[in-house]
Formats: sequence, structure tokens, C-alpha cells
Amino acid sequence: MPGLPLPRSSSRIGWATPWVPTGSFDQYEALGRILHDVVVNCLPHDWTWTGKRVLDFGSGAGRTLRHFAAEAAEAEFHGCDIDPEGIAWLNANLNPPLQGFVNDEKPPLAQPDGSYDVIYAFSVFSHIAGEWSGWALEMHRLLAPGALLIASFLGVGMSETIAGEPWDANRIGMNVLKVHQDWARGGPSVMLSPWWIAEHWGRAFELVSIDPGSLPNVHGMMVLSPKPSAPSRAELEWVDPAEPREVVALRHNVRQLQRESQATAAELDAIHATVPWRVAAKARRLIARR
Ligand SMILES: C[S@@+](CC[C@H](N)C(=O)[O-])C[C@H]1O[C@@H](n2cnc3c(N)ncnc32)[C@H](O)[C@@H]1O
Repeated sequence: MPGLPLPRSSSRIGWATPWVPTGSFDQYEALGRILHDVVVNCLPHDWTWTGKRVLDFGSGAGRTLRHFAAEAAEAEFHGCDIDPEGIAWLNANLNPPLQGFVNDEKPPLAQPDGSYDVIYAFSVFSHIAGEWSGWALEMHRLLAPGALLIASFLGVGMSETIAGEPWDANRIGMNVLKVHQDWARGGPSVMLSPWWIAEHWGRAFELVSIDPGSLPNVHGMMVLSPKPSAPSRAELEWVDPAEPREVVALRHNVRQLQRESQATAAELDAIHATVPWRVAAKARRLIARR
């Protein structure tokens, strides 16, 4: 957003590390603007901003949120994240008109039911593994009736990059990879198929649209609206035995995790074979004998 300060690389997307190259400020600005436009293009044609409340869930330092500074003259815009550094930068530099708050890794947020007319989340549900159903229900609780959740996910176009294999919707449901990876290195990778989103998220939300993100390295996009009543977490996660793709996808995820664990074991063997490691191991043995 021209005229607004830009964060230093360490807080540009919330988690900028040697493993997550952040690119240039120009790229940061350009992608934020594109994501702003993605949100705007998902809104109904008669949409007006007056009096609306919007949440950027997992905003980081506000890469997308900063592009809503003009709309914030009419509407209230919040960003939240588990990363205190990004939120501190957002509040120090973009507030007002944009407001940030830190949230816990587990729901809920402190906001009352039906607080938001739009919640958007870019590259957030693509990393939330075990807590996905809790956060899905929290999005449901936070949205007003008829409001919209706009969220990106890792789908067709990310298969080669994330899983190192061609896309096959029959063997991807919600397949979680790199579950051990901490947030400093991008967190777990969660791949989703449109059929699985319809099957599980569809129990709590009407599906407005799902774009599978077919182009290489492009994320999928789902636009959802809350159903009048919410299921429980167990109901959201329940695996329907009548849907054969569920078991196929779960079995494939087991194979993927086995491949990952084999690769990790090979990396560990390579580390154990290095001279510094062998010297340190010998020193530890000598110390233990004393
Ligand atoms: C890849 S970054 C994307 C940041 C931002 N949405 C963007 O597009 O620039 C993912 C962000 O999600 C945040 N995050 C992960 N889990 C979260 C959670 N449970 N609640 C809020 N934010 C979360 C991370 O801290 C990180 O800032």
C-alpha cells in the first residue's frame, strides 16, 4: 500500500526465516495487493463496506490487511496471529486504522459470537493440522449469519511442491505432511481435496465456491458461509464409511508419512556419520565411563 511503512524481513509474513525466503519488498506489496483483490472478488456484487467487520485470521504483520487501509475508513479491520512479533509490528505501524491482536494456538478468540461479516485466511488452514476442526467451528461461531469465510488451501497446484508427486484427488482427502515442522520453518503442510472440503467443512458451512487452484504453485481457494447450526468437532471429523475415498486417502497419507520418516532416518544416519558427530559421541561415551 503506497505510503504505508513496510516491515523488516523478519516480520514480513509472520515467519520469515532462512527456510522461508521472503522475497523483495516489491513482491511483498504485489502479493498483498493480489490477495486483497482475491477477497474483494469473492464478495457479492452489491457489497458495501459501511459498518462491516472483517478479520484477517493469521495476518502476520498484515501483508494483505495493509491493502485494506482505504476500506478501513468505512469498516473495521482486525488481524490476528499467534506470532506476537508480526502483530506488534502491525499495531506499531498500521494501527490506526488496522488493529491487530495475538491469539492462542487453540481456539477460542475472545470476540463474541457473530462478530465478523468476512473472515479471510491466506496460507493458514494450509498449516493447521490437529486443530483444524476446532478452528473451523471457531470461524463458524465468529461469523454473522450470511457472512463469508474466504480461505486458501494446498490443493492440485501444490502437490508436486509439497508432496513431490502428481495430484490425484482420489488419494488426497486431508493429507498432513511434515507434521513435526515447527512454525519457524512454516509449520505442517495440510493438503486438501475439494471433495473432502465439501464432505467435512460442508457439515458446518454452505459452499459458496471452491477453486482447486489447478495452476502449478497456486493455492486453492474456498468461500464458505456458516450453516444456521454447527456440528460438534467429532461430527465434523467423522469419516463416513460410505465415502470410499476417505480410506484410500488415509492409507495414502500413511504411505506419505512412511516415506517422510525414511527420509528423516537417512538424514540422521548421514549426520551420525559426520566426523564432528562421531568425535562428540566418543567424548560422550568417555565422559559416561568416568
Ligand atoms: C504462511 S503465513 C501467512 C501470513 C499471512 N496470512 C499472509 O498471507 O501474509 C501463516 C500465518 O498463520 C499464522 N498462524 C498459524 N496458526 C495460527 C492460528 N491458530 N491462529 C492464528 N494465526 C495462525 C502464522 O503465525 C503465520 O503468520
